[in-house]
Amino acid sequence: MTILVTGGLGYIGSHTVVELLQNNFQVIIVDDLSNSEKFILDNIEKVAGKRPVFFPFDLKRKELLSQVFDAYEIDGCINFAAFKAVGESQEKPLDYYENNLFSLINILQEFKKRNISNFIFSSSCTVYGQADEQPIDENTPLKMPESSYGKTKQMGEEILKDFATAYQKKVSLLRYFNPIGSHPSALLGELPIGIPNNLVPYVTQTASGIREKLSIWGNDYDTEDGTAVRDYIYVVDLAKAHVKALQKLMAENEETVIDIYNLGTGKGSSVLEVVEAFETANDVKVPYQICERRAGDITIAYANADKAERELGWKADTSLEEALRTTWEWQNYLVSREL
Ligand code: NAD
Ligand code: WQD
Repeated sequence: MTILVTGGLGYIGSHTVVELLQNNFQVIIVDDLSNSEKFILDNIEKVAGKRPVFFPFDLKRKELLSQVFDAYEIDGCINFAAFKAVGESQEKPLDYYENNLFSLINILQEFKKRNISNFIFSSSCTVYGQADEQPIDENTPLKMPESSYGKTKQMGEEILKDFATAYQKKVSLLRYFNPIGSHPSALLGELPIGIPNNLVPYVTQTASGIREKLSIWGNDYDTEDGTAVRDYIYVVDLAKAHVKALQKLMAENEETVIDIYNLGTGKGSSVLEVVEAFETANDVKVPYQICERRAGDITIAYANADKAERELGWKADTSLEEALRTTWEWQNYLVSREL
Protein backbone atom coordinates (compact mmCIF):
# COMPACT_ATOMS: atom_id res chain seq x y z
CA MET A 1 0.00 0.00 0.00
CA THR A 2 1.31 3.44 -0.93
CA ILE A 3 0.48 6.38 1.30
CA LEU A 4 0.95 10.04 0.50
CA VAL A 5 2.14 11.81 3.65
CA THR A 6 1.95 15.57 3.31
CA GLY A 7 4.08 17.49 5.79
CA GLY A 8 5.97 14.23 6.31
CA LEU A 9 9.21 15.99 7.29
CA GLY A 10 7.46 17.95 10.05
CA TYR A 11 7.23 17.08 13.72
CA ILE A 12 4.32 14.62 13.86
CA GLY A 13 4.64 13.67 10.19
CA SER A 14 8.23 12.43 10.47
CA HIS A 15 7.39 10.19 13.44
CA THR A 16 4.38 8.82 11.58
CA VAL A 17 6.41 8.12 8.43
CA VAL A 18 8.74 5.94 10.54
CA GLU A 19 5.76 3.98 11.91
CA LEU A 20 4.30 3.55 8.41
CA LEU A 21 7.61 2.30 6.99
CA GLN A 22 7.99 -0.09 9.92
CA ASN A 23 4.51 -1.42 9.11
CA ASN A 24 5.51 -2.04 5.47
CA PHE A 25 3.66 0.85 3.85
CA GLN A 26 5.36 2.61 0.94
CA VAL A 27 5.56 6.31 1.74
CA ILE A 28 5.60 9.33 -0.54
CA ILE A 29 6.26 12.61 1.24
CA VAL A 30 5.31 16.02 -0.10
CA ASP A 31 6.68 18.81 2.09
CA ASP A 32 7.70 22.30 1.01
CA LEU A 33 10.17 22.65 3.91
CA SER A 34 8.35 25.77 5.10
CA ASN A 35 8.62 24.44 8.66
CA SER A 36 11.04 21.52 8.39
CA GLU A 37 14.56 20.63 7.31
CA LYS A 38 15.86 18.28 4.66
CA PHE A 39 18.15 16.39 7.12
CA ILE A 40 14.99 14.90 8.69
CA LEU A 41 14.67 12.74 5.56
CA ASP A 42 18.13 11.25 6.21
CA ASN A 43 17.21 10.71 9.83
CA ILE A 44 13.97 8.95 8.91
CA GLU A 45 16.07 6.60 6.81
CA LYS A 46 18.51 6.04 9.69
CA VAL A 47 15.67 5.16 12.06
CA ALA A 48 13.46 3.11 9.73
CA GLY A 49 16.14 1.58 7.49
CA LYS A 50 14.18 2.71 4.40
CA ARG A 51 14.12 6.01 2.54
CA PRO A 52 10.71 7.34 1.58
CA VAL A 53 10.17 9.06 -1.76
CA PHE A 54 10.30 12.83 -1.21
CA PHE A 55 8.97 15.75 -3.26
CA PRO A 56 9.79 19.26 -2.03
CA PHE A 57 6.94 21.44 -3.22
CA ASP A 58 4.02 23.47 -1.98
CA LEU A 59 0.71 21.57 -2.12
CA LYS A 60 -0.96 24.67 -3.46
CA ARG A 61 0.84 23.91 -6.73
CA LYS A 62 -1.90 21.73 -8.20
CA GLU A 63 -0.03 20.71 -11.34
CA LEU A 64 2.93 19.31 -9.38
CA LEU A 65 0.59 17.46 -7.05
CA SER A 66 -1.22 15.96 -10.01
CA GLN A 67 2.07 14.68 -11.42
CA VAL A 68 2.73 12.77 -8.19
CA PHE A 69 -0.67 11.10 -8.52
CA ASP A 70 0.14 10.31 -12.17
CA ALA A 71 3.43 8.70 -11.22
CA TYR A 72 2.31 6.59 -8.24
CA GLU A 73 -0.67 4.47 -7.44
CA ILE A 74 -1.69 6.10 -4.19
CA ASP A 75 -3.97 4.21 -1.79
CA GLY A 76 -4.47 6.88 0.85
CA CYS A 77 -3.21 10.09 2.39
CA ILE A 78 -2.28 11.39 5.82
CA ASN A 79 -2.44 15.15 5.57
CA PHE A 80 -0.19 16.83 8.14
CA ALA A 81 0.77 19.82 5.98
CA ALA A 82 -0.51 23.03 7.52
CA PHE A 83 0.66 26.24 9.15
CA LYS A 84 0.12 25.85 12.90
CA ALA A 85 1.20 28.96 14.81
CA VAL A 86 -1.88 30.24 16.63
CA GLY A 87 -0.60 33.81 17.21
CA GLU A 88 0.71 34.20 13.66
CA SER A 89 -2.63 33.06 12.29
CA GLN A 90 -4.26 36.10 13.89
CA GLU A 91 -1.86 38.42 12.05
CA LYS A 92 -2.01 36.56 8.72
CA PRO A 93 -5.42 34.89 8.56
CA LEU A 94 -5.53 34.78 4.76
CA ASP A 95 -2.19 32.95 4.60
CA TYR A 96 -3.58 30.37 7.02
CA TYR A 97 -6.86 29.85 5.19
CA GLU A 98 -5.05 29.69 1.87
CA ASN A 99 -2.34 27.29 2.95
CA ASN A 100 -4.36 24.97 5.15
CA LEU A 101 -7.53 24.80 3.10
CA PHE A 102 -6.35 25.13 -0.53
CA SER A 103 -3.76 22.37 0.09
CA LEU A 104 -6.45 20.15 1.53
CA ILE A 105 -8.87 20.77 -1.33
CA ASN A 106 -6.18 20.17 -3.96
CA ILE A 107 -5.50 16.71 -2.56
CA LEU A 108 -9.22 15.92 -2.28
CA GLN A 109 -9.74 16.90 -5.92
CA GLU A 110 -7.11 14.32 -6.91
CA PHE A 111 -8.82 11.73 -4.71
CA LYS A 112 -12.15 12.45 -6.35
CA LYS A 113 -10.74 12.45 -9.87
CA ARG A 114 -8.88 9.17 -9.41
CA ASN A 115 -11.37 7.39 -7.24
CA ILE A 116 -9.09 7.08 -4.21
CA SER A 117 -10.42 6.75 -0.67
CA ASN A 118 -8.74 6.64 2.80
CA PHE A 119 -7.93 10.13 4.00
CA ILE A 120 -6.61 11.02 7.44
CA PHE A 121 -6.77 14.61 8.65
CA SER A 122 -4.73 16.23 11.46
CA SER A 123 -7.34 17.98 13.50
CA SER A 124 -6.94 19.42 16.97
CA CYS A 125 -8.55 19.64 20.38
CA THR A 126 -8.80 23.34 19.60
CA VAL A 127 -12.13 22.54 17.86
CA TYR A 128 -13.68 22.06 21.33
CA GLY A 129 -12.55 25.45 22.70
CA GLN A 130 -13.12 25.62 26.47
CA ALA A 131 -15.43 22.65 26.86
CA ASP A 132 -18.06 22.83 29.59
CA GLU A 133 -17.10 19.41 30.95
CA GLN A 134 -13.94 17.34 31.30
CA PRO A 135 -12.78 14.94 30.06
CA ILE A 136 -13.66 15.80 26.47
CA ASP A 137 -15.15 13.01 24.39
CA GLU A 138 -15.99 13.10 20.68
CA ASN A 139 -19.62 14.07 21.38
CA THR A 140 -18.61 17.21 23.25
CA PRO A 141 -20.11 20.16 21.35
CA LEU A 142 -17.63 22.02 19.14
CA LYS A 143 -17.05 25.73 19.68
CA MET A 144 -15.75 27.99 16.95
CA PRO A 145 -12.06 28.46 17.85
CA GLU A 146 -10.83 32.00 18.44
CA SER A 147 -7.82 31.76 16.17
CA SER A 148 -7.85 31.59 12.40
CA TYR A 149 -5.58 28.56 12.74
CA GLY A 150 -8.22 26.80 14.84
CA LYS A 151 -10.90 27.77 12.36
CA THR A 152 -8.94 26.10 9.53
CA LYS A 153 -9.11 22.88 11.55
CA GLN A 154 -12.84 23.14 12.13
CA MET A 155 -13.45 24.06 8.48
CA GLY A 156 -11.16 21.24 7.35
CA GLU A 157 -13.31 18.79 9.29
CA GLU A 158 -16.48 20.13 7.64
CA ILE A 159 -14.92 19.93 4.17
CA LEU A 160 -13.95 16.31 4.81
CA LYS A 161 -17.39 15.34 6.08
CA ASP A 162 -18.97 16.78 2.92
CA PHE A 163 -16.31 15.11 0.78
CA ALA A 164 -16.93 11.69 2.34
CA THR A 165 -20.69 12.02 2.08
CA ALA A 166 -20.90 13.36 -1.47
CA TYR A 167 -18.30 11.09 -3.05
CA GLN A 168 -18.57 7.96 -0.83
CA LYS A 169 -15.11 8.20 0.71
CA LYS A 170 -13.50 7.02 3.93
CA VAL A 171 -12.06 9.74 6.15
CA SER A 172 -10.67 9.86 9.66
CA LEU A 173 -10.54 13.10 11.64
CA LEU A 174 -7.93 12.83 14.37
CA ARG A 175 -8.19 15.42 17.10
CA TYR A 176 -4.78 15.66 18.76
CA PHE A 177 -4.41 17.05 22.24
CA ASN A 178 -0.92 18.46 23.04
CA PRO A 179 1.81 16.43 21.32
CA ILE A 180 5.22 16.41 23.04
CA GLY A 181 8.50 14.49 23.03
CA SER A 182 10.86 13.14 20.42
CA HIS A 183 11.87 9.84 18.89
CA PRO A 184 13.80 7.56 21.31
CA SER A 185 16.67 7.55 18.81
CA ALA A 186 16.99 11.33 19.35
CA LEU A 187 17.07 11.68 15.55
CA LEU A 188 13.58 13.13 15.14
CA GLY A 189 11.75 15.81 17.07
CA GLU A 190 10.18 19.22 16.99
CA LEU A 191 12.12 22.03 15.30
CA PRO A 192 10.70 25.27 16.67
CA ILE A 193 11.67 28.17 14.44
CA GLY A 194 12.45 31.32 16.43
CA ILE A 195 10.97 31.76 19.89
CA PRO A 196 8.75 28.78 20.74
CA ASN A 197 5.09 29.43 21.54
CA ASN A 198 4.39 25.98 22.92
CA LEU A 199 5.19 25.04 26.49
CA VAL A 200 7.50 22.06 26.12
CA PRO A 201 9.85 23.55 23.50
CA TYR A 202 10.11 26.68 25.66
CA VAL A 203 10.84 24.63 28.79
CA THR A 204 13.48 22.67 26.88
CA GLN A 205 15.21 25.74 25.50
CA THR A 206 15.19 27.33 28.95
CA ALA A 207 16.80 24.26 30.51
CA SER A 208 19.36 24.40 27.71
CA GLY A 209 20.21 28.05 28.44
CA ILE A 210 18.90 29.36 25.10
CA ARG A 211 16.09 31.19 26.96
CA GLU A 212 16.67 32.85 30.29
CA LYS A 213 13.40 32.04 32.01
CA LEU A 214 10.12 30.36 31.27
CA SER A 215 7.11 32.66 31.64
CA ILE A 216 4.22 30.75 33.15
CA TRP A 217 1.11 32.37 31.74
CA GLY A 218 -1.10 32.70 34.79
CA ASN A 219 -1.37 30.95 38.16
CA ASP A 220 -4.86 32.16 39.01
CA TYR A 221 -6.82 29.59 37.01
CA ASP A 222 -9.45 27.49 38.68
CA THR A 223 -7.21 24.40 38.83
CA GLU A 224 -5.43 22.63 41.68
CA ASP A 225 -2.21 24.68 41.54
CA GLY A 226 -3.67 27.65 39.63
CA THR A 227 -1.83 26.93 36.33
CA ALA A 228 -3.64 25.77 33.21
CA VAL A 229 -4.13 22.07 32.52
CA ARG A 230 -3.60 20.19 29.24
CA ASP A 231 -3.34 16.60 28.00
CA TYR A 232 0.25 16.04 26.84
CA ILE A 233 0.54 13.08 24.49
CA TYR A 234 3.83 11.47 23.47
CA VAL A 235 4.44 11.96 19.76
CA VAL A 236 5.41 8.33 19.09
CA ASP A 237 2.16 7.14 20.68
CA LEU A 238 0.36 9.69 18.51
CA ALA A 239 2.18 8.49 15.38
CA LYS A 240 1.14 4.89 16.07
CA ALA A 241 -2.51 5.95 16.25
CA HIS A 242 -2.29 7.10 12.61
CA VAL A 243 -1.27 3.64 11.44
CA LYS A 244 -4.16 2.10 13.40
CA ALA A 245 -6.64 4.65 12.04
CA LEU A 246 -5.43 4.00 8.48
CA GLN A 247 -5.62 0.23 8.87
CA LYS A 248 -9.16 0.56 10.20
CA LEU A 249 -10.25 2.74 7.27
CA MET A 250 -8.72 0.32 4.79
CA ALA A 251 -10.47 -2.64 6.36
CA GLU A 252 -13.91 -0.98 6.34
CA ASN A 253 -16.48 -2.56 4.03
CA GLU A 254 -18.73 0.51 4.00
CA GLU A 255 -18.09 2.91 1.12
CA THR A 256 -18.63 6.03 3.22
CA VAL A 257 -16.88 6.28 6.56
CA ILE A 258 -16.37 9.32 8.78
CA ASP A 259 -14.30 8.37 11.80
CA ILE A 260 -13.56 10.87 14.54
CA TYR A 261 -11.12 10.17 17.36
CA ASN A 262 -9.69 12.14 20.24
CA LEU A 263 -6.02 11.32 20.63
CA GLY A 264 -4.81 12.10 24.13
CA THR A 265 -3.76 10.32 27.29
CA GLY A 266 -6.92 10.97 29.29
CA LYS A 267 -4.83 12.70 31.96
CA GLY A 268 -4.53 16.43 32.56
CA SER A 269 -1.24 18.00 33.71
CA SER A 270 -0.74 21.56 34.88
CA VAL A 271 2.04 23.84 33.62
CA LEU A 272 3.82 23.51 36.97
CA GLU A 273 3.51 19.72 36.84
CA VAL A 274 5.14 19.73 33.39
CA VAL A 275 8.01 21.87 34.66
CA GLU A 276 8.53 19.61 37.66
CA ALA A 277 8.33 16.44 35.55
CA PHE A 278 10.91 17.89 33.15
CA GLU A 279 13.26 18.73 36.02
CA THR A 280 12.89 15.28 37.57
CA ALA A 281 13.20 13.36 34.30
CA ASN A 282 16.34 15.18 33.21
CA ASP A 283 17.90 16.36 36.45
CA VAL A 284 18.05 19.96 35.24
CA LYS A 285 16.57 23.20 36.49
CA VAL A 286 14.01 25.27 34.62
CA PRO A 287 13.97 28.85 35.96
CA TYR A 288 10.53 30.41 35.67
CA GLN A 289 8.48 33.46 36.54
CA ILE A 290 4.73 33.77 36.91
CA CYS A 291 3.18 36.22 34.45
CA GLU A 292 -0.28 37.39 33.41
CA ARG A 293 -2.53 34.96 31.56
CA ARG A 294 -1.91 34.63 27.81
CA ALA A 295 -4.77 36.02 25.72
CA GLY A 296 -7.01 33.32 24.26
CA ASP A 297 -5.80 30.52 26.56
CA ILE A 298 -8.33 28.12 28.02
CA THR A 299 -8.20 26.82 31.59
CA ILE A 300 -8.36 23.09 31.09
CA ALA A 301 -8.60 20.47 28.35
CA TYR A 302 -8.00 16.75 28.56
CA ALA A 303 -9.30 13.90 26.50
CA ASN A 304 -11.55 10.99 26.98
CA ALA A 305 -9.75 8.76 24.45
CA ASP A 306 -11.78 5.60 25.16
CA LYS A 307 -13.24 5.53 21.65
CA ALA A 308 -9.79 5.22 20.09
CA GLU A 309 -8.94 2.44 22.53
CA ARG A 310 -12.20 0.62 21.81
CA GLU A 311 -12.22 0.97 18.03
CA LEU A 312 -8.54 1.21 17.14
CA GLY A 313 -7.03 -0.87 19.93
CA TRP A 314 -4.78 2.10 20.66
CA LYS A 315 -3.81 3.74 23.93
CA ALA A 316 -1.21 6.39 24.76
CA ASP A 317 0.82 4.73 27.48
CA THR A 318 4.12 6.64 27.61
CA SER A 319 4.51 8.65 30.80
CA LEU A 320 4.98 12.41 30.88
CA GLU A 321 8.48 11.98 32.38
CA GLU A 322 9.53 9.53 29.68
CA ALA A 323 8.26 11.82 26.93
CA LEU A 324 10.10 14.76 28.48
CA ARG A 325 13.30 12.73 28.72
CA THR A 326 13.23 12.16 24.95
CA THR A 327 12.71 15.89 24.41
CA TRP A 328 15.89 16.64 26.34
CA GLU A 329 17.89 14.09 24.34
CA TRP A 330 16.64 15.66 21.11
CA GLN A 331 17.62 19.11 22.39
CA ASN A 332 21.13 17.84 23.11
CA TYR A 333 21.29 16.35 19.61
CA LEU A 334 20.31 19.73 18.13
CA VAL A 335 22.97 21.47 20.23
CA SER A 336 25.59 18.91 19.13
CA ARG A 337 24.70 19.65 15.49
CA GLU A 338 24.63 23.40 16.17
CA LEU A 339 21.02 23.57 14.96
P1 NAD B 1 4.96 20.92 11.52
O1 NAD B 1 4.97 22.35 11.15
O2 NAD B 1 6.16 20.37 12.22
O3 NAD B 1 4.68 20.03 10.22
C1 NAD B 1 3.93 20.47 9.14
C2 NAD B 1 4.74 20.23 7.88
O4 NAD B 1 3.98 20.62 6.75
C3 NAD B 1 6.04 21.05 7.84
O5 NAD B 1 7.11 20.16 7.57
C4 NAD B 1 5.84 22.05 6.70
O6 NAD B 1 7.03 22.31 6.02
C5 NAD B 1 4.80 21.34 5.83
N1 NAD B 1 3.90 22.21 5.07
C6 NAD B 1 3.14 23.23 5.55
N2 NAD B 1 2.41 23.78 4.54
C7 NAD B 1 2.72 23.08 3.42
C8 NAD B 1 2.31 23.17 2.04
N3 NAD B 1 1.45 24.09 1.63
N4 NAD B 1 2.84 22.30 1.16
C9 NAD B 1 3.72 21.36 1.56
N5 NAD B 1 4.16 21.24 2.83
C10 NAD B 1 3.67 22.09 3.74
O7 NAD B 1 3.65 20.66 12.38
P2 NAD B 1 3.24 19.41 13.28
O8 NAD B 1 3.34 19.82 14.69
O9 NAD B 1 3.94 18.19 12.82
O10 NAD B 1 1.69 19.33 12.94
C11 NAD B 1 1.20 18.47 11.93
C12 NAD B 1 -0.29 18.67 11.78
O11 NAD B 1 -0.92 18.42 13.03
C13 NAD B 1 -0.71 20.09 11.39
O12 NAD B 1 -1.79 19.99 10.51
C14 NAD B 1 -1.13 20.70 12.71
O13 NAD B 1 -2.07 21.72 12.51
C15 NAD B 1 -1.73 19.51 13.40
N6 NAD B 1 -1.72 19.62 14.87
C16 NAD B 1 -0.55 19.88 15.50
C17 NAD B 1 -0.53 20.02 16.89
C18 NAD B 1 0.72 20.37 17.62
O14 NAD B 1 0.64 20.87 18.74
N7 NAD B 1 1.91 20.13 17.08
C19 NAD B 1 -1.72 19.83 17.61
C20 NAD B 1 -2.90 19.54 16.92
C21 NAD B 1 -2.88 19.44 15.53
C1 WQD C 1 0.19 24.88 27.01
C2 WQD C 1 0.05 25.57 28.34
C3 WQD C 1 0.03 27.96 28.21
C4 WQD C 1 4.09 28.51 26.81
C5 WQD C 1 -1.73 25.08 21.36
C6 WQD C 1 -2.73 25.43 20.27
C7 WQD C 1 -3.65 24.30 19.99
C8 WQD C 1 -2.87 23.01 19.71
C9 WQD C 1 -1.83 22.74 20.76
C10 WQD C 1 -2.56 22.72 17.36
C11 WQD C 1 -0.90 26.76 28.30
C12 WQD C 1 1.24 27.49 28.99
C13 WQD C 1 2.91 27.95 27.25
C14 WQD C 1 4.85 29.29 27.72
C15 WQD C 1 3.23 28.83 29.43
N1 WQD C 1 -2.14 23.08 18.49
N2 WQD C 1 2.50 28.11 28.53
N3 WQD C 1 4.40 29.41 28.99
O1 WQD C 1 -2.14 26.57 24.25
O2 WQD C 1 -2.75 24.19 24.83
O3 WQD C 1 -2.46 24.78 22.53
O4 WQD C 1 -1.03 23.91 20.94
O5 WQD C 1 -3.64 22.39 17.01
O6 WQD C 1 -4.41 24.67 18.91
O7 WQD C 1 -3.47 26.56 20.71
O8 WQD C 1 -0.45 24.69 23.99
O9 WQD C 1 1.94 24.48 24.46
O10 WQD C 1 1.04 26.74 23.78
O11 WQD C 1 0.48 25.85 26.02
O12 WQD C 1 2.86 29.00 30.59
O13 WQD C 1 5.90 29.84 27.37
O14 WQD C 1 1.33 26.10 28.71
O15 WQD C 1 -0.47 29.14 28.79
O16 WQD C 1 -1.58 26.80 29.51
P1 WQD C 1 -2.01 25.13 23.98
P2 WQD C 1 0.82 25.45 24.49
